[in-house]
Amino acid sequence: MTQQEEQQQKRRSMALVNEHFLKLPGNYLFSDIAKKVNTYKVTHPKEKIIRLGIGDVTQPLAPAIIEAMHKAVDEMAVQETFRGYGPEQGYSFLIDTILKNDFASRGISLEPSEIFISDGAKSDTGNIGDILRHDNSVGVTDPVYPVYIDSNVMGARAGNLESGKWSNIVYIPCLAENDFIPELPSRRVDILYLCYPNNPTGTTLTKDELKRWVNYALANDTLILFDAAYEAYIQDPDIPHSIYEIKGAKKVAIEFRSFSKTAGFTGMRCGYTVVPKELNGFTLEGERVQLNKLWNRRQCTKFNGTNYITQRAAEAVYSPEGKEQVKEIINYYMTNARIMKEGLQQCGLKVYGGDNAPYLWIKTPKGLTSWKFFEKMLYEVSIVGTPGVGFGPSGEGYLRLTAFGDRDNTLEAMARLKKWLI
Ligand code: MLT
Repeated sequence: MTQQEEQQQKRRSMALVNEHFLKLPGNYLFSDIAKKVNTYKVTHPKEKIIRLGIGDVTQPLAPAIIEAMHKAVDEMAVQETFRGYGPEQGYSFLIDTILKNDFASRGISLEPSEIFISDGAKSDTGNIGDILRHDNSVGVTDPVYPVYIDSNVMGARAGNLESGKWSNIVYIPCLAENDFIPELPSRRVDILYLCYPNNPTGTTLTKDELKRWVNYALANDTLILFDAAYEAYIQDPDIPHSIYEIKGAKKVAIEFRSFSKTAGFTGMRCGYTVVPKELNGFTLEGERVQLNKLWNRRQCTKFNGTNYITQRAAEAVYSPEGKEQVKEIINYYMTNARIMKEGLQQCGLKVYGGDNAPYLWIKTPKGLTSWKFFEKMLYEVSIVGTPGVGFGPSGEGYLRLTAFGDRDNTLEAMARLKKWLI
């Protein structure tokens, strides 16, 4: 037996892993941070830790949502109203409500079959790669939500990690120097991720800026994956909430939405993805294929729908009472953001974001690296942030804080920081 035959023989007798997983850092960013915080907790049991790291909400669900869930639970207890498997794409009561409130109200016309209810934007932005070939080129704004990068590493699209960057990913730097407005990439990309309002920088794009990207995608047959998970935090009436507010976007973009940050569903899990029928991908032979059909096929095979009770809860977000209550909670977090921005500026820090998003992006003082500042803040004032470099190379020298804390903790964190830094 030749060496090659021997290797083939060996290969057949083993379950081979997807070796691309092995290229990833050992932990997902937020799991890594959680481990570091736990170590601090064990070694400093008396310290009260204030967590402003992961963007997790702290306020309970709005009463209208709770009421809708109670009602749905009761329905599940009765033969006539009990529900088993639901439609993989979501119930029409929720889809119709979404179409009316999130799109028709902004002059965007979409069909029910263009909406796919899911268990959140993290899953969908991670899973969308299932319908895209492994050799597409990928562009990301940098810093970036780590799910976009890690899922492309898993899908064999990222290449190799070389000095903090994946060799096949085009990084589009967003820095204070360019007001966090990404330049069009010098190299054409097949797939481009945009997240606005942005995680992690908390910055936004105007309609004209977003239009440049849609036009770029139209001219280059680029697919835009637009993550609008934070749209509910937009305060400025001129900032677009959906990419479909831009003419032509239905031909180039998939949009991801989430109830996590909009209505406190981080633990409930519900979101949705819009895949317009006008949007095509291509086969290797250049034939056009509706991405809507592929995503529908993918969902029907791998997903059995978001549970009925949660979808009723999501529907309640749009009831008159629900809207009012949810708005109040968003205002609460945005008041935190304002308190934090003012407090951090009083500490002499340069702070970005926080006006139309629940994230504040801080330039680290004294030229400290992101991780050094993260550690000092944890060990000296027991406050957890997220090191900017964890979101990509352009995040080095920054740290992210979230406005999702409760008010008392937010105020206490600012008091600690003032004492520490002034
Ligand atoms: C974040 O902190 O960036 C988010 O909580 C992560 C997420 O939404 O998955």
